[in-house]
Amino acid sequence: MIPLLTTIAGLAALGHASPEKRATDAAAHASNSAGNYQLSSITAPVQGAGSPGSESTWKLTIDDTSAGHKQTITGFGGAVTDATVTSFNTLSRSTLQQLLNELMTADGAQFALMRHTIGASDLSGDPVYTYDDNGGEADPSLAGFNLGDRGNAMAEMLATMKSLQSDLTVLGSPWSPPGWMKLNGVIDGNTTDNNLNDGYLTSGGTGSTGYSSAFAQYFVKYIQAYEALGATIDAITIQNEPLNSQSGYPTMYVFDYESAQLIQNYVGPALADANLNTQIWAYDHNTNEPSYPQTVLTQASKYVDTVAWHCYARDVDWTVLSSFQATNPSAKQYMTECWTPASGSWHQAADFTMGPLQNYASGVIAWTLGTNTADGPHLSSGGCDTCQGLVTIDSADGYTLTPAYYMMAQFSKFMPPGAIVLNGTGSYTYSGGQGVQSVASLNPDGTRTVVIENLFSKDIYLSVETESGEEWSGNVPSESVTTWVLPASA
Ligand SMILES: *[C@@H]1O[C@H](CO)[C@@H](O)[C@H](O)[C@H]1NC(C)=O
Ligand SMILES: *[C@@H]1O[C@H](CO)[C@@H](O)[C@H](O)[C@H]1NC(C)=O
Repeated sequence: MIPLLTTIAGLAALGHASPEKRATDAAAHASNSAGNYQLSSITAPVQGAGSPGSESTWKLTIDDTSAGHKQTITGFGGAVTDATVTSFNTLSRSTLQQLLNELMTADGAQFALMRHTIGASDLSGDPVYTYDDNGGEADPSLAGFNLGDRGNAMAEMLATMKSLQSDLTVLGSPWSPPGWMKLNGVIDGNTTDNNLNDGYLTSGGTGSTGYSSAFAQYFVKYIQAYEALGATIDAITIQNEPLNSQSGYPTMYVFDYESAQLIQNYVGPALADANLNTQIWAYDHNTNEPSYPQTVLTQASKYVDTVAWHCYARDVDWTVLSSFQATNPSAKQYMTECWTPASGSWHQAADFTMGPLQNYASGVIAWTLGTNTADGPHLSSGGCDTCQGLVTIDSADGYTLTPAYYMMAQFSKFMPPGAIVLNGTGSYTYSGGQGVQSVASLNPDGTRTVVIENLFSKDIYLSVETESGEEWSGNVPSESVTTWVLPASA
């Protein structure tokens, strides 16, 4: 596709036939780099070619006919870590209620997809823990299983979120199983033999020795315990970042074939035997090793048809998801983790939402939903100490929604669960970083959403042509993510 950055004369030459009508029911909202727009209502686009004046123009097309339908949206949100829950719970009841309304309801972003940490992650205060530590002694029957204070608080937070957003989908991911299930015996601190003691690695690959069954039952007990507290777990991954083994925080290395066999022979059957319909998503790591999730989908096909991707590959390439979709047309995909540091560019969260959506992701999750003002609490032994949340919790019973919150809300609020992403053309970023990226959806109520990332440091005049035969035009502020909501096509 070729970007059209035309002059007025160039636009006139395109020869728009439709008369300009007043678009009483279109709407536009923007959040920008300067921060003076924060989900702010701005001048709505008009039907027809509009009046670009002296502004540079840009042209997009969207296919809002059935031929243009791509993936269906599940939702957007953040990771509910221990840092999130402990800092949220320092707020007074009324302030917490207000915050949760801004996150989960039409008062704000209407997030509908959350990931949460099963036991400690790097964004937990000391000490590390799982739901069955048992003083480090092996507990194959899981008699000592308990959520503990932090697990209980997390389940209660997720249950409250679900009560505010009935469409909420929750993904759970462990950073490590209990230490006694591992060959090195510890949750963190030792990268030697940082593997599950599961028989696939120790016993000729049969999986039948060690703690494969206990590992599977750990997920069953966790899902049941959360469910009992009103927190439905819709999906799990069996290990966060299975190719990442570090000593400073909970991690565990899991080979691709090992992950596949654990799911196919243990975790999948255990969930089914317990009548749990929790999905199992593959991988949960970077886009540079697509053969890993391919192995899991191929070898654990009875239980897995969904892939979770992270953003941390060097020069992240979201077209990996489109390639994966081409070879696995029925697979669902999600971007399940990308950090939002205070040092990030104004459009960092917009980029990691836009790119996956343009390439078949059904949802996007930031790391993390919330922290205190020191980007924590986090483990003193290592892990991320600059992972700012989408919201930071002040000590004096207040909170601040960060730029990344507004960037994600520009998608989340206007692309509800069930929205269908539409094919389109016209997105282009020049090598210097300026340009326009866009993604559109057809929403369950028939309205159409167009999210536009204007990377130019000047306003542009945008015109969107729909395959159904309409044209909508309007101003898009400089360095903004602007969302147009167009009425249902006539
Ligand atoms: C999307 O549009 C492009 C360009 O018009 C086209 O080549 C492609 O086949 C379309 N894809 C889908 C899924 O409709
Ligand atoms: C790490 O774990 C291995 C067991 O696999 C053990 O031999 C080694 O002593 C441990 N290292 C430390 C520093 O604890």
